[in-house]
Amino acid sequence: MKIVILTGAGVSAESGLGTFRDKNGLWTRYDLNEVATPEGFARDPAKVHAFYNARRRNAVEAEPNAAHDALATLQREFRGEVVIVTQNVDGLHEAAGADALHMHGALSGARCAACHATWGAPLFMSPTDLCPSCGASSTRPDIVWFGEMPMHMEVIQSHLNEAGLFAAIGTSGEVYPAAGFVMEALRAGADTVEINLEPSGSAGLFHRRLIGPASEVVPRWVDELLSP
Ligand code: OAD
Ligand code: ZN
Repeated sequence: MKIVILTGAGVSAESGLGTFRDKNGLWTRYDLNEVATPEGFARDPAKVHAFYNARRRNAVEAEPNAAHDALATLQREFRGEVVIVTQNVDGLHEAAGADALHMHGALSGARCAACHATWGAPLFMSPTDLCPSCGASSTRPDIVWFGEMPMHMEVIQSHLNEAGLFAAIGTSGEVYPAAGFVMEALRAGADTVEINLEPSGSAGLFHRRLIGPASEVVPRWVDELLSP
């Protein structure tokens, strides 16, 4: 059986990285139109770089929590394929030893808006950085902004079509296309489970809801899947 797991900011919350829509979330403190759109970047690249530089610094200092560890164990030990798709731009799944498809990009990456080359981001990016490939000064974080196409959509789609079990962990289900994955999985005949601190707006689409902090609920769920 193939398990497809979608993770969101809630899986990294207990590693000290903020979520977006909770009270004190990033989108209550920052205007997403200013820092997470191509238009905002065109208006004020220094502001956008400062936002992602701060998040990159937080992310490199963060450690994976028990939820990331358990998902890495599941991917290693489950007798079937475990695909982790994350909306998160931190590297905590990888730090725990898992492979994840980063549909919203990664803080560890930089990209040239002129020639589309990608390379490892320095800790601090600046509007005056030059592309190592073409020399243009149009470098940006390799992150998907609102209004842009998420990454790896074809391969994610094909995994969803083959899913026997779909889990959404720590995501509010407010942002498409990720919010629509549960519908795709249901269409493929998958069982669906939501793991979240509280039922999300789309909780009704899941066969099962496991409510509580990811660091406690995910290890229990993984134990259940791995027990013979
Ligand atoms: P949100 O901030 O929208 O949702 C976080 C979810 O995690 C909420 O449903 C919380 O209840 C839940 N949560 C918080 N702490 C938790 C914990 N300890 N254990 C389990 N669940 C917990 O974040 P995302 O759904 O990831 O995109 O947001 C999706 C996208 O919107 C992000 O990738 C980002 C953002 O705008 C872009 O920047 C393109
Ligand atoms: Zn370039």
